[in-house]
Amino acid sequence: MSEGAAKKEERRKFQAIRGTRDLLPPETALWNHVEQTANEVFATFGFGAIRVPIFEPTELFARSIGLDTDVVSKEMYTFEDYEATELVELRTAAVTNVASLATGEALIDFLDRVGNFILAADKAFEAGRIPKTPENERTLQMARELIANLQTFRYQGEREILPRVAELKDAVRQVRFGDVISLRPEATASVCRAYIEHGMQQLPQPVKLYYIGPMFRRERPQKGRYRQFYQIGAEVLGGSDAPAIDAEVIEMVITFFDRLELHGVQLDINSIGCRECRPKYVELLRAELLKVKDKLGPDSQRRIRTNPLRVLDSKLESEQGTIATLPRITDHLCEACATHYSAVKRQLEMRGVFFRENWRLVRGLDYYMRTTFEITAQGLGSQNAVCGGGRYDGLVELLGGPPTKGIGFAIGEDRLILSLQESGKAPAQPGRDVYIAWMGERAHATAIRAAKDLRKAGFSVELPPVEQKFGKALGQADKLGAKHALILGDNEVSEGLWTLKTLADGSQLKLPEPALIEHLRKSKAVSS
Ligand code: HAM
Repeated sequence: MSEGAAKKEERRKFQAIRGTRDLLPPETALWNHVEQTANEVFATFGFGAIRVPIFEPTELFARSIGLDTDVVSKEMYTFEDYEATELVELRTAAVTNVASLATGEALIDFLDRVGNFILAADKAFEAGRIPKTPENERTLQMARELIANLQTFRYQGEREILPRVAELKDAVRQVRFGDVISLRPEATASVCRAYIEHGMQQLPQPVKLYYIGPMFRRERPQKGRYRQFYQIGAEVLGGSDAPAIDAEVIEMVITFFDRLELHGVQLDINSIGCRECRPKYVELLRAELLKVKDKLGPDSQRRIRTNPLRVLDSKLESEQGTIATLPRITDHLCEACATHYSAVKRQLEMRGVFFRENWRLVRGLDYYMRTTFEITAQGLGSQNAVCGGGRYDGLVELLGGPPTKGIGFAIGEDRLILSLQESGKAPAQPGRDVYIAWMGERAHATAIRAAKDLRKAGFSVELPPVEQKFGKALGQADKLGAKHALILGDNEVSEGLWTLKTLADGSQLKLPEPALIEHLRKSKAVSS
C-alpha cells in the first residue's frame, strides 16, 4: 500500500453497514418500555422466554421456510464456518492467480499444487476435520479423477486443456471446509429445532415460548425495512390444534398492542387450508390465472408457474380488478379446515377481538397451513405490516421431531416503535433526579457517599468526576434536565446541613443529611 493510500485508510470513517443502524438514547427508552411490556403481557398468558442462537445451519431455514421463498433464495446472510487455515492456503496456492498454462511444465506444476491440496483435503476428510458429507466425498473423488486424467494427457497446447482445468478448479473450489450457516432471518425454525433438541414434547403441553431479538434479511433498505431488524415473537407447540389456541395467540398480540396504545391497529385473518385442500386450490387458481394472463404484469405472469398464491399478494394497481375475480381459497377449504376456520372466528368474537377476513392473505413463508394473520398499524407507509403469523402444524415433524401442532407470530419491533413514535409517543427517558455539585476534597468524599445512598434508594444521580465551579455545575445540571442539584461545599460538610436546589423554580433548601432521601421521595411522589 502506498503511503497516501495508507493515510487515507487510517482516516477512514466507519459507518454502520447499509440496512443496519444504531439505536440511541432517548429512543432506546421506548424500546425498553416496549420489551418490558411484552415481558409482562406475555407472562400473563403463561409464556416463557427462550433465547436461540443468532446463527444456525442454513439447511434448517431452507427446509422450514422453503427453498423457493424470497427469504431463503435471496435474503439470507450465509457463510462457511471453518478453521482449516492450512487447506485455505493450499487451495489459494492451487487455484488463485494461476498464470498461463502455456507449457507442459506449467501444467505439471499446476497439477502438483492441486494434487497437494487434494491430498491434504483427503486426510482432513478422513480425520473429520472437514465435513464428512456425501457432497465433499463426491467432489474429492471427482478432483482425483480429473487430475489423473490431465496427468495422462499429452500436452499439445493451452486451449485444448482449458475446459478440463476449469472443471478441476471448480471441483477444488467446491470442497467445503466447514458447515454452511446463516444468520437467522426469523426464529420459528430455531424454536422448533430447540423444541426437538430438548425433548420438550415431554413437558406439559402446549409449550408456550416467546423471544425478542435481531433477525437478518438482505432486503432493499427503506423506512420500516432493515437488514438487521428486531422481532418480538411467540410460538405455541404441542399436541392440540384447538381453534381457541389460535384465537388466544392473536388475543395476546392485540392485548399487547392495546397496552402500548398503538394506533390504527387492523387485524386481517385467513385460512390457507392444509395439505389436502390447498394443492387443489392452487391448481384451480393456476388455471384461472392462465385465462387472464394477459392482464397481468411480468412478475405475476412468472408466478403463475412458480407460486400462483403469491399473485394474490400483488400491490400493482393495474392488477387489482383482475385479482378480485379469482377463486377464493376460503370457498375451497376441505371440511376439516372450513370447520377450524369458523371456530377460530367464533373464538375471536368471544374474546372481543375485531378482525377483517382477507382471502388474499397468503404470507411469504412455506410452513404455514390453515390460520394465517397479519396486523397493520398507523404511520408506516408501504411497510405497514407490524405483525405476521399463522399455524404451522407438521413443521416440527419436517425437522425430524414428533408429530406436533404449532402456531405463532412475530412482531416487527422497529415498525412497532416507528408507529408509536408517529402517533406521538415520546420516549420516556428518565432524567436525573439529582446532580451533585461538589467542591473540595472533603466534599468529594461526602458526595461519593451521598451518591451511593441516593442510588441505593432508587434515585438517578449524576456525580461529576472532577471538581467544578458551582456556576458551571448548575449549568451542567440544567442541561442534563436534572430535577435537583445537591450542593456540597466545605460549609455544608462542616455544618452537616446540605443545600438542595430545585432547578425548575430555583428554590433552595437546607437539609440535614438524614432528611434528604425522605424529602426527595416526597417531591418525586408529587411530580409523578
Ligand atoms: P414475517 O412476516 O416474515 O414472519 O415477519 C414478521 C414481521 O417482521 C413482519 O410483519 C414485519 O413487521 C417484520 N419484518 C420482516 N422483515 C423485516 C425487515 N426487513 N425490516 C423490518 N421489519 C421486518 C415471520 O418472521 C414468522 N417467523 C412469524 C411467525 C412466527 N409465524 C409463526 N410463528
